[in-house]
Amino acid sequence: MKITIFGAGYVGLSTAVCFATKYDVSLVDVDHEKISAIKAGKSLIYEAQLDELLEKGLSSGNLRIFNIEENIPPSEIIFIAVGTPSDQDGYINLQFVRNVVKTIQKRQKEILNPNYSLIAIRSTVIPGTTRRYLQHLEKRGNIGIAFSPEFLSQGTAIKDTLYPCRMIIGSNTAMASTFLKSFYTNFYGEKIPILQMSIESAEFAKYAANAFLATKISFVNELANIVESVDDADIGDVMDSIGYDPRISPFFLKAGIGFGGSCFPKDVRALLQFAQDNLAEKPSLLNAVLEVNENRPLKVTKLLREHLGELDGKIIAIFGLTFKPGTNDIRETPALSVIRSLWRNGAKIHAHDPIIDRIDLRSFSRYGVKFFSDIESCLTGTHACILLTEWPEYQEISINKLVSNMAQKIIIDGRRIYADRKIPVDVCYLTIGSSINRKNHLPFNHTPNKSSNNLKSFDAPLSIDT
Ligand code: UDX
Repeated sequence: MKITIFGAGYVGLSTAVCFATKYDVSLVDVDHEKISAIKAGKSLIYEAQLDELLEKGLSSGNLRIFNIEENIPPSEIIFIAVGTPSDQDGYINLQFVRNVVKTIQKRQKEILNPNYSLIAIRSTVIPGTTRRYLQHLEKRGNIGIAFSPEFLSQGTAIKDTLYPCRMIIGSNTAMASTFLKSFYTNFYGEKIPILQMSIESAEFAKYAANAFLATKISFVNELANIVESVDDADIGDVMDSIGYDPRISPFFLKAGIGFGGSCFPKDVRALLQFAQDNLAEKPSLLNAVLEVNENRPLKVTKLLREHLGELDGKIIAIFGLTFKPGTNDIRETPALSVIRSLWRNGAKIHAHDPIIDRIDLRSFSRYGVKFFSDIESCLTGTHACILLTEWPEYQEISINKLVSNMAQKIIIDGRRIYADRKIPVDVCYLTIGSSINRKNHLPFNHTPNKSSNNLKSFDAPLSIDT
């Protein structure tokens, strides 16, 4: 079986190296710099196991890399895995999908197998896209079309590609569906559920999965706000308790500074726009999911100002620039909103990330950020440290060590990684979704907050008559 994958980004590259463990794979991209790096065995993406599998694929000859201008060998399965970014108004931008389809159309004899080829879109696209872009090719005969989404998470992209929880095939003909199913069964074996459905249901399923997970996170974050107003309550305990209910599940219940990355914000925005166009009204829940999320990063700067006062001239250490651990991706990272807000308030910013050498730092540099690859140097002389990404390196360090060279010992934990630790008495530790640590550290210029009294609806504490 020969496979061609268009798009050598996260999805395309991860898919290519995984399928190349068994099949002949041609990986194609328009970006010459990216292609030269991949040909030389450098992925540019920080992702566990990716470099090893890339090296294996290249040295075995199973994986071949092409610039779009080069001659691409014919294949039975073509995956389109190019980016589908957001336009400024939230609409999905399909120009890269369109360009690939045009290339396939123009160079059919070269790219497609003369007997039968299946073209499957793997990029996230709004319902109706696959049919709109590929149906005219299908009509020419010997070509099947499908939509088959990926559900890989950054940081575990290889594991998720090799061991998915399910595969989805959206197709409008039995032949295309059976063809792709037999390919997946051959690669994954019989244990992975393979769901066959219409193209549009499959396109929708991808948005539904991401929108649901994003909703879960915004729900937890909204509850975290409410929990903070209740004395002695902690969102971690609350969520642990509800996660035992199998209808809820324990995953994606972590309160924090909100979701970022290349998928959730973009996909919820695209679904929102799509729904608005189709229903002529704004879906209020999806809108609220984004609204809650946009306010999350500012929580930590608000907390900081409450406890440190004016930020002008203060040095603040930022721990973690990527939107989550295990990746060098900074797309829609909450760190950028936090840094921008600190900068606007006159703070000087130090930033550390365990993989700072592999991050594109240009978007942070305009805020005068000083970058550090060493934790201790980053913290020296700082007035507070804000933790934004839960890298294991930060979890391993002791609080005493962390604060030893700080000018003021304030830690704001945006990911709750120290929430269960014993905090030294001279450290002001503040985290999201908890009033427990906060009561020991009254805010700067503190005035009692009447609304924080959780018995306010009672006139007096209840006494029980015997
Ligand atoms: C996501 C989906 O999980 C994946 O299936 C899809 O194909 C692409 O989008 P990814 O963007 O890599 O993957 O990250 P994910 O691990 O899902 O986390 C997204 C964001 O949510 C991160 O910013 C993370 O910090 C945040 N998050 C996640 C929380 O704030 N709380 C949680 O409980 C879980």
